[in-house]
Amino acid sequence: MFKKIAIFISGRGSNMTAILEDIKNGIIDCEAIVISDNKAAAGLSKAKQFGIKTNLIIHNSKEQFARDAILLLDTENVDYIILAGFMHLLSANLINRYKDRILNIHPALLPSFKGLNARKQAVDAGVKIAGCTVHFATNDLDGGPIIIQAAVPVKSDDTPDSLAARILKKEHIIYPKAISLLISDRLEIKGKKVFIKKDDIDENQCMIVPEVVQ
Ligand code: GRF
Repeated sequence: MFKKIAIFISGRGSNMTAILEDIKNGIIDCEAIVISDNKAAAGLSKAKQFGIKTNLIIHNSKEQFARDAILLLDTENVDYIILAGFMHLLSANLINRYKDRILNIHPALLPSFKGLNARKQAVDAGVKIAGCTVHFATNDLDGGPIIIQAAVPVKSDDTPDSLAARILKKEHIIYPKAISLLISDRLEIKGKKVFIKKDDIDENQCMIVPEVVQ
């Protein structure tokens, strides 16, 4: 059955753009709507350029956001929520309602450097390898089952911004890939681990380490 995703954004929306490009080009086989909690989000106008329906939910609390979001998600028959630079925490009832159907991208190799300022945390810690992670969102912040990770080197003169730019290029590769796997029912969660049922990931494209089961 044709699937529908809701991409949640708060800001510039570069991951959203990478996802919408793949939908437009038929690489991800689904329909999308965009939901923002910030009317100044630059991503909103980018979404409109793709002819995508955008929705604004301004809220004072995560509970209020969840109420309005659930109404909209039900009306639109949304199957999956894709958090793409969405800067607010989701309420437990929204997360539970969409259990195993919410993805997030985090700009670090989880479980290292959870939370805010992940790139600064990596630079300050002096790690030599950093990266990004696509995972299922659960009530454990940045702690849900990991789907795909990509790694980049950290250079001695890196700033959080220079590292962020290098990581972002990998985000734009692994997030659409993870969504494509999700949409085509090829992800299987067993405890903390995610298995990919059958895949064609090009390991040379970036350091992606999924385990493929037939
Ligand atoms: C990305 O770095 C992502 O990892 C983090 O928020 C940022 C969103 O960037 N969760 P964009 O709005 O997709 O450009």
